Formats: sequence, structure tokens, C-alpha cells
Amino acid sequence: PQTFRILVLPGDHVGPEVMVEALRVLDVVQTSSVGKIKFVYNHQIAGGCSINRHGTPITDEVLRIAKEESDAVLFGSVGGPEWGTTYPNPESGLLRLRQHLDAFANIRPCTFYSRSLIPLSPLKPAIAEGTNFILLRENCGGASFGQKVEEADFASDSWAYRRDEVERCARVAAALAPTMGKDGLGTGQCPEGPATVWSSDKANVLASGRLWQRVTSQAFAQEFPHIELRHQLADSLSMLMVKNPRMFNGVIHTDNTFGDMLSDQAGGVVGTLGVFPSASLCGIPDGVNRCNGIYEPVHGSAPDIARKGMVNPTAQILSAAMMLRYSFGLAPEATTIEAAVQKVLDGKDIGGLEIRSADLGGCATTKQLGDAICMVLSRILKGEQQEHQ
Ligand code: NAD
Ligand code: IPM
Ligand code: MN
Repeated sequence: PQTFRILVLPGDHVGPEVMVEALRVLDVVQTSSVGKIKFVYNHQIAGGCSINRHGTPITDEVLRIAKEESDAVLFGSVGGPEWGTTYPNPESGLLRLRQHLDAFANIRPCTFYSRSLIPLSPLKPAIAEGTNFILLRENCGGASFGQKVEEADFASDSWAYRRDEVERCARVAAALAPTMGKDGLGTGQCPEGPATVWSSDKANVLASGRLWQRVTSQAFAQEFPHIELRHQLADSLSMLMVKNPRMFNGVIHTDNTFGDMLSDQAGGVVGTLGVFPSASLCGIPDGVNRCNGIYEPVHGSAPDIARKGMVNPTAQILSAAMMLRYSFGLAPEATTIEAAVQKVLDGKDIGGLEIRSADLGGCATTKQLGDAICMVLSRILKGEQQEHQ
């Protein structure tokens, strides 16, 4: 069989709860492949649980396994009030992992996986529907990684970028644009040409923003003249994302801090972070150069709903689908998982029952959602098997 090694880092609070469901979905993919696909899991810990056991949010050994012995990292979420923010906190373990793998390209898609979610958006349906963009967040530079000074009465973070860091992110944005298409539907078939890339920064105020804008403009002019590049300052982009999210259908290419804020805001457009996956890659997703990426939901460890069995596992499951697409070259399987998620959210194919977690206005448990997605997925995959026979 084709074998893929997955480092599993569930993290804290709801992290392990959603991870269980994602692993069950992967098991369905493996079983249904009848011996063609094999996932080999290495279960380790990172985050607050690692601080408790090892005194550090991520051990050197886990970092080594991530780099040398894994084809991808499936990550849950880390952090919580019991560990606070004092360095080295759980979150710093995740930052170290991103830096260690140089997973600089953080792909955060914002779309309605099912039409049935549109009425649940806090935006009017006519404004929300059709929203479909990728927020591409630079993931290894900027304010999160700059030099820090921390004293009793003074603190600073250096918000620094180098040309090559902006350039490589711009190249990923350019590679993703043709997969979106001008209609923003993400069908991968775009006769009308690649989608617009929106570059977002604060070039009016920040020196690093001026570099971001200048280098991005140069990269597109020289390497991607066929792709439309537009600029929108990050503050006004955040307003426009609420007023007219469809205008960004395509790719938003932005720096680490703005990308962090704008991706949570994109969650607000859809109405929950519970369906927001992400992929952090160390190269251009061209389907040829597979990279050891990190796959994790956009949401955090949600301590407020942990241990109640009510967290929505969809973001973690969709992150696993992104792992199949971007790190394992299993795009058809990834698409099938997304189709199963859509069917469950649509409430079709499962006896007309609406299986909705609390964040989507329902009362289904984490496990019930996982069960439904696994059931529909296995049904689709079995159907495909029979077609082939
Ligand atoms: P959060 O994303 O954990 O939660 C924000 C709100 O969204 C909460 O009300 C939560 O209940 C809800 N929510 C989030 N995910 C959900 C899901 N899958 N289903 C249903 N509801 C969901 O953000 P926060 O409360 O600001 O952060 C909590 C902790 O998580 C902090 O320690 C933070 O640093 C950490 N964090 C970690 C990651 C990560 O590991 N990748 C990302 C973001 C935040
Ligand atoms: C995210 C999170 C992380 C970040 C934290 C937990 C380190 O907010 O992935 O969006 O700031 O990147
Ligand atoms: Mn965040």
C-alpha cells in the first residue's frame, strides 16, 4: 500500500475531542481503500499537556519526529487559562513547530460547505451566500517571530519581514488563484482565468507593510502578469469582509498578524469557527512537491465548551482532508470527505435528520457528527468501489 506517516498532536481541551473524530474519518478512508492506502500514526503531545509532563510545550524529540519521521502533522489546538500567557506557554509550542518545519504558507479557506449554513450566518443571506475565498496567511515571520523585549514596564515585538519571506508567500497566492477561478467556486476548472489576489497590509503606517506591498507588486508584475493583483489596507479590508465578503472571492495574501485576525473574522462571516480548517505548507501546493505540512483547525482549544462532548469536529475533519490533498496527493479522497461533510450539513442522505452541533444551532454531540460523517463517507466510498468493479 501507499503508506503515509502522520504525527498526531491533539493538544489541550477540545483538541483531543475533535482529533478522535478526524482519526475515525481517516480510518474510513483507509478501510475503504481495501489495502491501497495505509496511515501510520505516531501519537505524541504538545501544548499545555506537554508543559505538565515535560516542562516544555513541545520537546525537541517531537520536533525531530515532525521533521524526520512524518509525512504530515495533524494538530488539534493548544492553550487554556490554567497555563496563562507567560512564556513558554502552550501556544509557543505551536509557533516553534511552524518555525521548525518552515510551514510558512497558512491556507485558511472561507466558504459555506453547505447551503444550509447560509441562514446561520450573522450576515443577511444575500450578502453571505457565495462567499468563497482563501485567506493565505504568512505563518513564520512578522510580529509573532520578531525579537521580543519583555520588562516590567516596557515590552516590544519587532514586526519584521525580509523580501524572500514576502516573495514565497506571494508565489503560493499565485499558485492558489487558478484553483479558485474568477467565479470563486474553487472548482479547479477556470476557463475564465485565475481569481484575483488581494494583498493586504498597512503600508500607510508600517515599514514592513511597505515592503510587503512593494515586493508583492514586483513579484506579480515579473512572475504572474496574467493574475490580477489588488491591494486593500488591512483595516478597511476587515470592514469590507463583513459588508461584502464575496468581493474577496479568490485569495487574500496577508501577513501573520493581519492573517490571524482576518481568519477569525472570516469565521464570523460564516457564523462559527467550527467549520474552519487550515493547512500550513512549506512550499507551493503544485501537487508534485509534497511537503510535510501542519493541518489544524483555525479555532483554539475552546476551554468554555471542553469536556461537554459538544465541540464541532468539522474543522478538524476538514483539516485532515486538506492533509490528504496537499501532503499526500490524495485529492479525490479529500474531495470525498468534503462531500460527506456537505451531505451531513445538508441533512440529506441521513434520513432527513439535521445533525447540527451547538455552534450551528443544534444539539448534536461531537460523536454524533463524527458518526454521521463517517457513515456517509463510507457509503460514498463503497459506491465508488462498486462502480469500479
Ligand atoms: P477559541 O477559538 O478557542 O474559541 C472562541 C469561541 O469559539 C469560543 O466560544 C468557543 O467555544 C467557540 N469555538 C471554537 N471552536 C469551536 C468548535 N470547533 N465548535 C464549537 N465552538 C467552537 O478562541 P479563544 O477562546 O480565544 O482561545 C482559547 C485558547 O485557545 C487560548 O489559549 C488560545 O491561545 C488558544 N488558541 C489555540 C489555537 C491553536 O492551537 N491552533 C488557535 C487559536 C487559539
Ligand atoms: C492561530 C492561533 C495561533 C496564532 C496561536 C495559538 C499561536 O491564534 O493559529 O490562529 O497566533 O497563530
Ligand atoms: Mn488565531
